[in-house]
Amino acid sequence: MNKIYTIVLLAIFLIGCGRKQTPIGKIPVPNFKKKIDLLPSLVNVRYNKGTSGVESCAKCHNEIYEEWQQSLHSQSMISEAFIRESNDYKFTECIGCHAPSGPGEGLTRPKARDFKLHEGITCSSCHVVGNRTLGPIGSNAPHGVKKDKSYLTSKVCQSCHQQTYTEWKESNLQDEGLTCQACHMPTVNRYISNHSRGIYSKKMSAKHTFEIEYKDSLKLNLKMSPLIKNQISLEVENIGSGHDYPTGTYGDNSVYLELKVLDKDEIVFFREEKLSAREGTSIKAKSKKRFFYTFRPPKKKSYLLRARAFYSSSNLKEDVKLAEFERYFEF
Ligand code: HEC
Ligand code: HEC
Ligand code: HEC
Ligand code: HEC
Ligand code: HEC
Repeated sequence: MNKIYTIVLLAIFLIGCGRKQTPIGKIPVPNFKKKIDLLPSLVNVRYNKGTSGVESCAKCHNEIYEEWQQSLHSQSMISEAFIRESNDYKFTECIGCHAPSGPGEGLTRPKARDFKLHEGITCSSCHVVGNRTLGPIGSNAPHGVKKDKSYLTSKVCQSCHQQTYTEWKESNLQDEGLTCQACHMPTVNRYISNHSRGIYSKKMSAKHTFEIEYKDSLKLNLKMSPLIKNQISLEVENIGSGHDYPTGTYGDNSVYLELKVLDKDEIVFFREEKLSAREGTSIKAKSKKRFFYTFRPPKKKSYLLRARAFYSSSNLKEDVKLAEFERYFEF
């Protein structure tokens, strides 16, 4: 079926060449189960001033579009933090990564667009070069497609996420097949387009919400030093992130660690630590950090020690609790 469709598409392409608009009536309609609208086979995916931007992809990729809308990629130009930090859009050097015209490559940042800037990092920023879409499948789409396997690798994220990419590379997680997509674009089996479902089958498709799985990504542990009297060690381990924890120097992503020593409900000792990429205090992938404290107990007895970790950033309405660890120790 797909083969026939390709031939038909090719024929239409050849006939259609050079014509601006092809009247639908003159195109031979193949005898498919379901009569399909052939007009879209001449779909021009070129993303330019004249087209309707992301809306033009949303028509046929509505599920992916809705996911993208929930992701921060769709907010990259309109988030309060960006407006504030770009000095109300006065810093134009930011646009290349926050509203790119098309994909960048490696260490070369993408080029900035000069239209529909509010759409931020849109479908075409990652997929459209000229009038073809680049993707990992090489599907028989009603628009030009160029198969490009690099979409299954972390390389497609590198041009904008330079620092996070370097951190990931140093972690050797690639040897375990843990690409950026493995964690941030989990796959589902579904129709990748809502257009002409009759002729396409379900495929493995990557979710475009670019989600972050905070659960079970950080581990806490508390110990008493066997050698130094009254010394508590708080151990923090990065067990679920594929790069430094937290990553990202552009925003204000931070992790807050707190240690409380409790006597019944009363807090008798409190310390807080901040981990941030900006300050160079993040924890590398698969690594640990330790903090030491000396607690001199008012009375010799047993106290409850409680450690907690929270993730905080301007993108989150409220802090996310990452982990907790508590235990009684004899002093
Ligand atoms: C064109 C530049 C660009 C490319 C390419 C790009 N990103 Fe991003 N990404 C950004 C920017 C800018 C932000 C921050 C947006 C904001 O917070 O407003 C971001 C945010 C994110 C976030 C945070 C999302 C959230 O909801 O908290 C994740 C995760 C992410 N990107 C993963 C990826 C992955 C994985 C890839 C590769 C498949 C990728 N990005 C490709 C520029 C890019
Ligand atoms: C930040 C970059 C980025 C943005 C923005 C983006 N994509 Fe993708 N897209 C990818 C990557 C990477 C893959 C391959 C992921 C994989 O298979 O692991 C992909 C895969 C796809 C596929 C192939 C099937 C599938 O679901 O895996 C389609 C179709 C697609 N994207 C459509 C869109 C549409 C439509 C938009 C806009 C609403 C969009 N993409 C926005 C990076 C992006
Ligand atoms: C007229 C409907 C239609 C429009 C408009 C459309 N697409 Fe598609 N697209 C499809 C269909 C159908 C497929 C193939 C589905 C399949 O193979 O299951 C597809 C496949 C794709 C793929 C997968 C490429 C591959 O094979 O790896 C990408 C990426 C993609 N589209 C991106 C886009 C982007 C970006 C836009 C907007 C600029 C867009 N599409 C507009 C119908 C459309
Ligand atoms: C093993 C799973 C895993 C892999 C692989 C991974 N990440 Fe992450 N990512 C996480 C977790 C967990 C967090 C939250 C904690 C942190 O910041 O490290 C995160 C956070 C992020 C953020 C911060 C979002 C924000 O709030 O601003 C970005 C951006 C991001 N990842 C991009 C990437 C890119 C790009 C790659 C590939 C080079 C990648 N990640 C690989 C799990 C992963
Ligand atoms: C090399 C590409 C690149 C350039 C250039 C760039 N950014 Fe970003 N920006 C990112 C990425 C990637 C993220 C996601 C988090 C991270 O990695 O720090 C981001 C995140 C942000 C965030 C956090 C978003 C939020 O909603 O919390 C702000 C604010 C921001 N950038 C502002 C700027 C400003 C202002 C400039 C120009 C002075 C700029 N960026 C230039 C890639 C870039």
